[in-house]
Amino acid sequence: MRYPPEFIDKVQETSSLLDIISQYTQLKPSGSGFMGRCPFPDHQEKTASFSMSEAKQVYHCFGCKKSGNIFTFLREYNGMSFPEALEYLADRAGIPLPEMAHDKNDQYAQAQDKKKQMLKINKVAADFFRETLKRTPADHSIKQYILRRKLQPETLEEFQVGFAPSEWDRLTLHLQKHNFSMELAEEAKLVKARKEGQGHFDLFRDRLMFPIISPSGEVLAFGGRIHDQGEPKYLNSPESYVFSKSKVLYGLAQTAKYIRSEDCAIIVEGYMDLVSLYQSGLKNVAASMGTALTVEHAKLIKRMTNNVVVLFDGDEAGQMAAERSLTILLSQGLYPRGLVLTEAKDPDEFINQFGLEALNKKIQSSSDLFNVVLQSWMIDYRGEASQKVKLVDRLRPIFDAIADQRLRSLYGEDLAMRMNVTKDWLRSALKNSNNANRQPFSSGPSMENLQANLVSVSSEVSSSQSVISEPVEEKIRLSDASQVEIMLLQTALKSRANFEQLLQSSIEERQESKNIDFKQILSQINHLGICKILEKAEQVYRQDVNKFDKFFTLLVDKIDKPEMLFQNSGFGMGADFDAEKEKKFLSDLIKKIQQNFLKEQSKKMSIDIRLDKQTMDVDKLKEFIELQKSRLSLKK
Ligand code: UTP
Ligand code: MN
Repeated sequence: MRYPPEFIDKVQETSSLLDIISQYTQLKPSGSGFMGRCPFPDHQEKTASFSMSEAKQVYHCFGCKKSGNIFTFLREYNGMSFPEALEYLADRAGIPLPEMAHDKNDQYAQAQDKKKQMLKINKVAADFFRETLKRTPADHSIKQYILRRKLQPETLEEFQVGFAPSEWDRLTLHLQKHNFSMELAEEAKLVKARKEGQGHFDLFRDRLMFPIISPSGEVLAFGGRIHDQGEPKYLNSPESYVFSKSKVLYGLAQTAKYIRSEDCAIIVEGYMDLVSLYQSGLKNVAASMGTALTVEHAKLIKRMTNNVVVLFDGDEAGQMAAERSLTILLSQGLYPRGLVLTEAKDPDEFINQFGLEALNKKIQSSSDLFNVVLQSWMIDYRGEASQKVKLVDRLRPIFDAIADQRLRSLYGEDLAMRMNVTKDWLRSALKNSNNANRQPFSSGPSMENLQANLVSVSSEVSSSQSVISEPVEEKIRLSDASQVEIMLLQTALKSRANFEQLLQSSIEERQESKNIDFKQILSQINHLGICKILEKAEQVYRQDVNKFDKFFTLLVDKIDKPEMLFQNSGFGMGADFDAEKEKKFLSDLIKKIQQNFLKEQSKKMSIDIRLDKQTMDVDKLKEFIELQKSRLSLKK
């Protein structure tokens, strides 16, 4: 689903980052921006070090270094995808979703309409179940069951858990009272028409109800657990317009911010596992609801972290699940670890029996999922030739799937050792596949990614033709740039005045020094990424000055360490902003970059000259002298 650029622009323009973040922490005006305590749960602080700028629509925490724009925030705090965030923001601002075609019979418009209705009826049903649970007396068997499962009232509230009463038509009557059509209720699989005669009956009866909630708080579906004997143990809403098991992880609405904060997602299977771990204090969890992990699940996780620990049951099904998740998680560039719990039936039982600390210890010491799987495959391995060949065949799809070349290469080396074969043999044995263009464990740079990324930033800014897509996964790497160049980037992008100064590139205070042209500065910057960013920024700036802040807003989401754009920059704390100092600082940076460049040049040249001693080239010498002069004139 892609939204037209005008719609995206409108949503962005009417949304306020201040508004969103203020839901979670109190922000107070400070200088040119706002300051408050960091809303992220891993960063409990007493003094305010979280800053945000309304003009640039970005935030940065000087304490924990998290930074981003409104989409980053909704992704990292609530786990929303880009389209989800758009829809959520549009809804808040009262902007209708664009109709993809004007024809009212259009499939898309119909689906949207149906989706809205379903979410509405689900919400009413969820509220009904919750109220019912609250009103149920303490001696009722469901309350006894809740006690036995050690679920605290706050936990039930947090996950909006409810109770579907045992009578046949309580929900049916409730929905009718709220004027919902029975067709809709049937479609949402909340009720069913009676075979004989008139009327409908409830599908969920006498069950503990777990609503499955989207990052933006919508009720997508239900999982209802029987609390007495009976089949099935869990009754789930079927796949629908609004729910697909393969695309949703249970619990993310509550746990996304913890996953982001811990920079790790713990994956469990069951509703109860998730709720129980959360209650015990392990909150960076998501549940796959009894299905095998899918690529969509992996992408959900990837929005918040690259690190995954999958908890498996110790049975055969658990082993199968481990093998299947391995390929999927690796293919999405995640770093999966695995933990098989043999001491208890599942994570819920484990934590109830052995406690949080014991589980945490196990998680901390869990191995790469690759090794967990490999170990089980090598149980009977004696290094016979046929075993080697068979094992390689089994492993090939895994190797083909690994997105991170470095990981592939290391797993390869390790595997060669464990299998007792040479690296060469393994490399060629793994190559022996249909997927011939993939190179088994080699590594290479990905400059194309950098290019693609910046093209997307600048086309998003001037978004008349192209549509913003979800941020490209591979980010521009700033982490290997030099401190001076990073400071130049920071300072240049901090304000229009600074950028203007860079474009004019006059080194202040030194009238006699000739102005250096912007292009020349670019050519003297070592780091390709910084160079490209400044180049794009210039394009945007010259096209439309008003888009300059927006360029920054978008850029924040495209680089590996966005906090590097903010370090020491006094961003958002305008109180100590001093225009003159700033100007001087920027020109010093430019000077420093020039000096570094000239130093490098003259080093190279003096080596050249020394090598060519016999055939002394006069022009070269002159050039060298000029270079030294420029260096001297820059020094002070
Ligand atoms: P489990 O059978 O392991 O259940 O199924 P559980 O989570 O441990 O539940 P408790 O502790 O017995 O209450 C794991 C998950 O598989 C899905 C559910 O999402 C469940 O949480 N499942 C299981 C179903 O959808 N239907 C079923 O009948 C059983
Ligand atoms: Mn269980």
